[in-house]
Amino acid sequence: MLMRELIEKKRDGGELSREEICWMTEGYTRGSIPDYQMSAMLMAIYFRGMTEDETLALTMAMMHSGGVIDLGAVHGIKADKHSTGGVGDKTSLALCPMMAAQGVKMAKLSGRGLGHTGGTIDKLESFSGLSTSMSMDKFFRDVNEVGFAIAGQTADIVPADKKLYALRDVTGTVPSRPLIVSSIMSKKLAAGADIIVLDVKTGSGAFMKTEEDSFALARDMVSIGRLAGKKTAAVVTDMDQPLGHAVGNALEVKEAVAVLKGEQGGDLLELCLALGGCIMQLAGLAQSEDEAREKLLECIENGSALERLADYVEAQGGSRGDVYDTSRLPLAPVQLEVKATCGGWVSAIDAQEVGNICLRLGGGRAEKDSEIDLSVGVVLRLKAGEAVKAGETIAVVHASDLAGAEEAASSLAAACSFSDSPVERRELIRGVVK
Ligand code: URA
Repeated sequence: MLMRELIEKKRDGGELSREEICWMTEGYTRGSIPDYQMSAMLMAIYFRGMTEDETLALTMAMMHSGGVIDLGAVHGIKADKHSTGGVGDKTSLALCPMMAAQGVKMAKLSGRGLGHTGGTIDKLESFSGLSTSMSMDKFFRDVNEVGFAIAGQTADIVPADKKLYALRDVTGTVPSRPLIVSSIMSKKLAAGADIIVLDVKTGSGAFMKTEEDSFALARDMVSIGRLAGKKTAAVVTDMDQPLGHAVGNALEVKEAVAVLKGEQGGDLLELCLALGGCIMQLAGLAQSEDEAREKLLECIENGSALERLADYVEAQGGSRGDVYDTSRLPLAPVQLEVKATCGGWVSAIDAQEVGNICLRLGGGRAEKDSEIDLSVGVVLRLKAGEAVKAGETIAVVHASDLAGAEEAASSLAAACSFSDSPVERRELIRGVVK
């Protein structure tokens, strides 16, 4: 086969065969196909799209480009959850223990934060002593004994995606649906769970800015998951403002723990109930959304979900006491309140900008290997649609010094918009694709 011929075929709107896609993916991963040819192919895919058969072939070829996790050693129902990325998204920290308390095993491979969105692995490292790098044996043992484990993504899982994603990033080909679907689903399939639930974000802080594009992505991912033999569902959720109240590593851990203690409701809890409800229905553990919701709320009320988190933290080398007393987690030396300059209603909170403020405070990575400050970030007191009085505290900035706090406070005030008439609250759950 010649790569030039495959590029021409796709450029002219043709359909690539499974063999051609496998050959191209393998060749690019091994280095026999150069970046310049793969760049041309990615751009041809960007403009011409891919059929479902092509997307499935690319997903499977990428999945098999490296090691695939066999969860055969894990007993019971195995589920995985993936979010397309958002600001303040600490859902996995609360959802995994909730699912473990229901008897569903969660074996999660997660990433670190890059740019304006955070990563679960960084957040977990707010627990002193906790390590997310472990042998596969320990990973399986923890999933069996604790009910869930979260480990850092290993280098040999879907190496094709590492190369392709980096190339897409510099060739303007990230926002292509078949390329996003194959990138996400190849990693989910390689992680080996029987049930996959996807949280597809929509809005200004998301990858997909419109609901139409988000639903299309959700539908495509669900059908590829099903064709690959997995029980798959997707929930399309709002990312026009940060999820929950906290943005910043340790601050987000504290918020997830507050949900597990039953101290905080709102959008974060609702999202956990929606995603957890999908998993329970796919697992046959609940016949309806209401039944799933009742069971999930029960594991918060009886403390079993919180206990699963403490078990996990202890199993990974941290102290379970930190879960019950989160004042022991990193705390920034400076806290500065941001006040509303006028009264009215909060009309918008720019999620991407809040993520960037956290990044500038030192809580995120501008580059892959930057050091991060786990203690810094922002706690928003209000959500879009809520009424506000002049002089009321709208947010608290947590910073390592006063100059940084002041700069963040003024950027944060600019990231919030106000209206002098009531504003409709945005629906968190836009729909479920099953
Ligand atoms: N997340 C991924 O892992 N891949 C994409 O292409 C987009 C989001």
